[in-house]
Amino acid sequence: MELDGKVIVVTGAARGIGQEFARGLGAAGGRIVAADINDCSATIEQLSAAGGSAIPFRLDVRDISSARDMAETAVETFGRIDALINNAALYGPLRGGRFDAIAESDWDAAMSVNVKGVWNCCKAVVPAMRQAGGGSIVNMASLAATYGMPYGLHYTTSKAAVIGLTRGLARELGRDRIRVNALAPSAVLTEGTREFFGDRLDRALDVIKGGQSIQRNLAPSDLVGAALWLVSDAAALVTGQTIAIDGGTVML
Ligand SMILES: NC(=O)c1ccc[n+]([C@@H]2O[C@H](COP(=O)([O-])OP(=O)(O)OC[C@H]3O[C@@H](n4cnc5c(N)ncnc54)[C@H](O)[C@@H]3O)[C@@H](O)[C@H]2O)c1
Repeated sequence: MELDGKVIVVTGAARGIGQEFARGLGAAGGRIVAADINDCSATIEQLSAAGGSAIPFRLDVRDISSARDMAETAVETFGRIDALINNAALYGPLRGGRFDAIAESDWDAAMSVNVKGVWNCCKAVVPAMRQAGGGSIVNMASLAATYGMPYGLHYTTSKAAVIGLTRGLARELGRDRIRVNALAPSAVLTEGTREFFGDRLDRALDVIKGGQSIQRNLAPSDLVGAALWLVSDAAALVTGQTIAIDGGTVML
Protein backbone atom coordinates (compact mmCIF):
# COMPACT_ATOMS: atom_id res chain seq x y z
CA MET A 1 0.00 0.00 0.00
CA GLU A 2 2.20 2.79 -1.27
CA LEU A 3 0.84 6.28 -0.79
CA ASP A 4 2.33 7.66 -4.04
CA GLY A 5 2.92 11.19 -2.79
CA LYS A 6 -0.51 11.62 -1.20
CA VAL A 7 -0.55 14.79 0.92
CA ILE A 8 -1.53 13.89 4.47
CA VAL A 9 -2.19 16.31 7.32
CA VAL A 10 -1.53 14.74 10.72
CA THR A 11 -2.70 16.73 13.74
CA GLY A 12 -1.14 16.21 17.17
CA ALA A 13 2.06 15.14 15.40
CA ALA A 14 4.55 16.50 17.97
CA ARG A 15 4.63 13.29 20.00
CA GLY A 16 3.05 9.91 20.66
CA ILE A 17 0.69 8.31 18.19
CA GLY A 18 0.58 11.36 15.91
CA GLN A 19 4.36 11.39 15.60
CA GLU A 20 4.27 7.69 14.72
CA PHE A 21 1.51 8.27 12.11
CA ALA A 22 3.60 11.03 10.51
CA ARG A 23 6.71 8.80 10.48
CA GLY A 24 4.92 5.69 9.20
CA LEU A 25 2.81 7.40 6.53
CA GLY A 26 5.86 9.42 5.42
CA ALA A 27 7.91 6.23 5.12
CA ALA A 28 5.14 4.77 2.92
CA GLY A 29 5.48 7.66 0.46
CA GLY A 30 3.08 10.24 1.89
CA ARG A 31 3.96 13.93 1.95
CA ILE A 32 3.23 15.04 5.49
CA VAL A 33 2.02 18.21 7.18
CA ALA A 34 2.93 17.61 10.84
CA ALA A 35 0.64 19.93 12.80
CA ASP A 36 0.48 20.50 16.54
CA ILE A 37 0.07 23.22 19.14
CA ASN A 38 3.61 22.21 20.19
CA ASP A 39 6.85 22.13 18.22
CA CYS A 40 6.99 19.36 15.59
CA SER A 41 10.70 19.69 14.75
CA ALA A 42 11.58 16.28 16.26
CA THR A 43 8.94 14.68 14.03
CA ILE A 44 10.26 16.52 10.96
CA GLU A 45 13.85 15.47 11.77
CA GLN A 46 12.81 11.81 11.98
CA LEU A 47 10.94 12.05 8.69
CA SER A 48 13.72 13.89 6.87
CA ALA A 49 16.34 11.41 8.14
CA ALA A 50 14.27 8.64 6.54
CA GLY A 51 14.11 10.57 3.25
CA GLY A 52 10.49 11.67 3.69
CA SER A 53 8.91 14.93 2.62
CA ALA A 54 7.33 16.94 5.45
CA ILE A 55 6.62 20.40 6.84
CA PRO A 56 5.69 21.46 10.37
CA PHE A 57 2.72 23.65 11.21
CA ARG A 58 1.80 25.31 14.53
CA LEU A 59 -1.89 24.51 14.86
CA ASP A 60 -4.49 25.10 17.50
CA VAL A 61 -7.39 22.84 16.52
CA ARG A 62 -9.76 24.90 18.70
CA ASP A 63 -9.33 27.85 16.34
CA ILE A 64 -10.95 27.61 12.89
CA SER A 65 -8.67 30.30 11.42
CA SER A 66 -5.61 28.34 12.58
CA ALA A 67 -7.04 25.22 10.91
CA ARG A 68 -7.77 27.16 7.72
CA ASP A 69 -4.21 28.58 7.71
CA MET A 70 -2.93 25.01 8.00
CA ALA A 71 -4.97 23.86 5.00
CA GLU A 72 -3.80 26.87 2.99
CA THR A 73 -0.14 26.16 3.88
CA ALA A 74 -0.55 22.50 2.89
CA VAL A 75 -1.97 23.46 -0.52
CA GLU A 76 0.65 26.19 -1.07
CA THR A 77 3.45 23.75 -0.25
CA PHE A 78 2.28 20.49 -1.80
CA GLY A 79 -0.51 21.59 -4.18
CA ARG A 80 -3.32 19.51 -2.66
CA ILE A 81 -4.65 17.68 0.40
CA ASP A 82 -5.56 13.98 0.12
CA ALA A 83 -5.96 12.96 3.74
CA LEU A 84 -6.42 14.28 7.26
CA ILE A 85 -5.61 12.32 10.40
CA ASN A 86 -7.52 14.00 13.22
CA ASN A 87 -5.28 12.78 16.02
CA ALA A 88 -4.80 15.87 18.24
CA ALA A 89 -6.65 15.61 21.52
CA LEU A 90 -6.60 16.53 25.17
CA TYR A 91 -5.79 13.19 26.73
CA GLY A 92 -2.64 13.11 28.86
CA PRO A 93 -3.33 16.42 30.64
CA LEU A 94 -6.95 15.53 31.54
CA ARG A 95 -7.66 14.60 35.15
CA GLY A 96 -9.91 11.61 35.66
CA GLY A 97 -12.40 11.24 38.52
CA ARG A 98 -16.01 10.49 39.31
CA PHE A 99 -18.51 11.96 36.86
CA ASP A 100 -19.72 14.51 39.40
CA ALA A 101 -16.23 15.58 40.40
CA ILE A 102 -15.01 16.58 36.93
CA ALA A 103 -14.36 20.32 36.78
CA GLU A 104 -16.62 22.17 34.34
CA SER A 105 -13.53 23.80 32.82
CA ASP A 106 -12.02 20.33 32.14
CA TRP A 107 -15.29 19.16 30.55
CA ASP A 108 -15.36 22.22 28.28
CA ALA A 109 -11.65 21.86 27.41
CA ALA A 110 -12.12 18.20 26.40
CA MET A 111 -15.08 19.04 24.16
CA SER A 112 -13.33 22.04 22.66
CA VAL A 113 -10.18 20.16 21.57
CA ASN A 114 -11.47 16.61 21.05
CA VAL A 115 -14.80 17.38 19.35
CA LYS A 116 -14.80 20.95 18.05
CA GLY A 117 -11.16 20.53 17.01
CA VAL A 118 -12.07 17.58 14.77
CA TRP A 119 -14.99 19.52 13.27
CA ASN A 120 -12.73 22.56 12.65
CA CYS A 121 -10.04 20.55 10.88
CA CYS A 122 -12.63 18.77 8.72
CA LYS A 123 -14.14 22.12 7.70
CA ALA A 124 -10.69 23.46 6.89
CA VAL A 125 -9.50 20.62 4.62
CA VAL A 126 -12.68 19.52 2.83
CA PRO A 127 -12.58 22.32 0.19
CA ALA A 128 -9.08 21.19 -0.88
CA MET A 129 -10.19 17.54 -0.90
CA ARG A 130 -13.16 18.42 -3.11
CA GLN A 131 -10.73 20.23 -5.41
CA ALA A 132 -8.55 17.10 -5.51
CA GLY A 133 -11.57 14.92 -6.43
CA GLY A 134 -11.79 13.06 -3.12
CA GLY A 135 -10.01 12.32 0.13
CA SER A 136 -9.81 10.34 3.34
CA ILE A 137 -10.36 11.56 6.89
CA VAL A 138 -9.31 9.34 9.79
CA ASN A 139 -10.53 10.40 13.24
CA MET A 140 -9.02 9.11 16.46
CA ALA A 141 -11.78 7.72 18.66
CA SER A 142 -10.94 5.35 21.52
CA LEU A 143 -11.80 2.16 23.35
CA ALA A 144 -12.94 4.62 26.03
CA ALA A 145 -16.04 5.21 23.87
CA THR A 146 -16.65 1.68 22.53
CA TYR A 147 -16.16 0.06 25.96
CA GLY A 148 -17.53 2.92 28.06
CA MET A 149 -14.56 3.97 30.19
CA PRO A 150 -15.66 5.20 33.65
CA TYR A 151 -13.96 7.91 35.73
CA GLY A 152 -13.03 10.02 32.75
CA LEU A 153 -16.47 10.84 31.44
CA HIS A 154 -15.37 14.03 29.66
CA TYR A 155 -12.83 12.03 27.62
CA THR A 156 -15.18 9.06 27.03
CA THR A 157 -17.99 11.37 25.91
CA SER A 158 -15.72 13.34 23.60
CA LYS A 159 -14.55 10.16 21.87
CA ALA A 160 -18.14 8.89 21.51
CA ALA A 161 -18.91 12.22 19.83
CA VAL A 162 -16.04 11.58 17.41
CA ILE A 163 -17.71 8.29 16.39
CA GLY A 164 -21.03 10.08 15.75
CA LEU A 165 -19.29 12.85 13.83
CA THR A 166 -17.52 10.21 11.72
CA ARG A 167 -20.80 8.51 10.78
CA GLY A 168 -22.76 11.68 10.00
CA LEU A 169 -19.93 13.29 8.04
CA ALA A 170 -19.32 10.08 6.06
CA ARG A 171 -22.92 10.33 4.81
CA GLU A 172 -22.56 14.04 3.96
CA LEU A 173 -19.28 13.68 2.07
CA GLY A 174 -19.78 10.44 0.15
CA ARG A 175 -20.93 12.30 -2.95
CA ASP A 176 -17.60 14.17 -2.90
CA ARG A 177 -15.71 10.86 -2.73
CA ILE A 178 -14.39 11.87 0.68
CA ARG A 179 -14.31 8.95 3.12
CA VAL A 180 -14.52 9.44 6.88
CA ASN A 181 -13.54 6.67 9.29
CA ALA A 182 -12.40 6.34 12.89
CA LEU A 183 -9.89 4.23 14.80
CA ALA A 184 -10.69 3.07 18.32
CA PRO A 185 -7.53 1.83 20.05
CA SER A 186 -7.23 0.48 23.56
CA ALA A 187 -4.47 1.87 25.78
CA VAL A 188 -1.33 2.64 23.80
CA LEU A 189 1.96 3.22 25.59
CA THR A 190 2.60 6.94 25.03
CA GLU A 191 3.59 9.89 27.18
CA GLY A 192 -0.10 10.82 27.13
CA THR A 193 -1.05 7.47 28.67
CA ARG A 194 1.67 7.83 31.32
CA GLU A 195 0.33 11.29 32.21
CA PHE A 196 -3.33 10.21 32.17
CA PHE A 197 -2.92 7.21 34.46
CA GLY A 198 -0.05 8.56 36.59
CA ASP A 199 0.88 6.14 39.39
CA ARG A 200 -2.05 3.87 38.39
CA LEU A 201 -0.37 3.15 35.03
CA ASP A 202 0.90 -0.41 35.61
CA ARG A 203 -2.37 -1.54 37.19
CA ALA A 204 -4.44 0.09 34.42
CA LEU A 205 -2.34 -1.49 31.66
CA ASP A 206 -2.70 -4.90 33.32
CA VAL A 207 -6.49 -4.56 33.61
CA ILE A 208 -6.81 -3.40 29.99
CA LYS A 209 -4.52 -6.18 28.73
CA GLY A 210 -6.54 -8.69 30.77
CA GLY A 211 -9.68 -7.76 28.81
CA GLN A 212 -7.98 -8.31 25.45
CA SER A 213 -8.16 -11.52 23.46
CA ILE A 214 -4.54 -10.97 22.38
CA GLN A 215 -2.84 -10.18 25.67
CA ARG A 216 -0.27 -7.54 24.78
CA ASN A 217 -0.49 -3.79 25.34
CA LEU A 218 -0.38 -1.68 22.18
CA ALA A 219 2.52 0.43 20.93
CA PRO A 220 1.95 3.43 18.60
CA SER A 221 3.35 1.38 15.70
CA ASP A 222 0.40 -1.05 16.07
CA LEU A 223 -1.92 1.67 14.69
CA VAL A 224 -0.01 2.70 11.57
CA GLY A 225 -1.16 -0.16 9.31
CA ALA A 226 -4.85 0.66 9.79
CA ALA A 227 -4.27 4.37 9.12
CA LEU A 228 -2.21 3.53 6.04
CA TRP A 229 -4.98 1.29 4.70
CA LEU A 230 -7.73 3.86 5.36
CA VAL A 231 -5.74 6.62 3.65
CA SER A 232 -4.85 4.41 0.67
CA ASP A 233 -7.01 3.67 -2.35
CA ALA A 234 -7.25 0.07 -1.11
CA ALA A 235 -10.04 1.27 1.22
CA ALA A 236 -11.90 3.16 -1.54
CA LEU A 237 -15.33 1.83 -0.47
CA VAL A 238 -14.80 1.97 3.29
CA THR A 239 -16.51 4.89 4.99
CA GLY A 240 -18.36 5.67 8.21
CA GLN A 241 -16.61 2.83 10.04
CA THR A 242 -15.01 2.71 13.47
CA ILE A 243 -12.22 0.16 13.50
CA ALA A 244 -11.25 -1.20 16.90
CA ILE A 245 -7.54 -1.79 17.40
CA ASP A 246 -7.82 -3.19 20.87
CA GLY A 247 -6.42 -6.71 20.81
CA GLY A 248 -10.00 -8.01 20.71
CA THR A 249 -11.65 -6.24 23.66
CA VAL A 250 -14.82 -4.87 22.08
CA MET A 251 -15.92 -6.78 19.00
CA LEU A 252 -17.93 -4.30 16.90
N1 LIG B 1 -2.60 6.67 23.97
C1 LIG B 1 -3.71 5.96 24.10
O1 LIG B 1 -3.80 5.02 24.91
C2 LIG B 1 -4.90 6.25 23.23
C3 LIG B 1 -5.92 5.30 23.15
C4 LIG B 1 -7.03 5.59 22.35
C5 LIG B 1 -7.09 6.77 21.64
N2 LIG B 1 -6.07 7.67 21.75
C6 LIG B 1 -6.16 8.90 20.98
O2 LIG B 1 -5.06 8.94 20.09
C7 LIG B 1 -4.63 10.29 19.91
C8 LIG B 1 -3.17 10.45 20.29
O3 LIG B 1 -2.93 9.93 21.60
P1 LIG B 1 -1.52 10.14 22.32
O4 LIG B 1 -1.46 9.16 23.42
O5 LIG B 1 -0.43 10.20 21.32
O6 LIG B 1 -1.80 11.59 22.97
P2 LIG B 1 -0.79 12.71 23.47
O7 LIG B 1 -1.47 13.41 24.59
O8 LIG B 1 0.54 12.10 23.73
O9 LIG B 1 -0.64 13.65 22.20
C9 LIG B 1 -1.66 14.51 21.81
C10 LIG B 1 -1.06 15.57 20.90
O10 LIG B 1 -2.10 16.50 20.60
C11 LIG B 1 -1.55 17.81 20.70
N3 LIG B 1 -2.60 18.80 20.99
C12 LIG B 1 -3.28 18.96 22.15
N4 LIG B 1 -4.10 20.01 22.08
C13 LIG B 1 -3.95 20.53 20.84
C14 LIG B 1 -4.54 21.63 20.16
N5 LIG B 1 -5.43 22.44 20.75
N6 LIG B 1 -4.19 21.86 18.87
C15 LIG B 1 -3.25 21.07 18.27
N7 LIG B 1 -2.64 20.04 18.87
C16 LIG B 1 -2.99 19.76 20.14
C17 LIG B 1 -0.54 17.71 21.84
O11 LIG B 1 0.39 18.77 21.81
C18 LIG B 1 0.08 16.34 21.58
O12 LIG B 1 1.21 16.42 20.74
C19 LIG B 1 -5.58 11.13 20.76
O13 LIG B 1 -6.68 11.52 19.97
C20 LIG B 1 -6.04 10.17 21.82
O14 LIG B 1 -7.27 10.55 22.39
C21 LIG B 1 -4.97 7.43 22.52
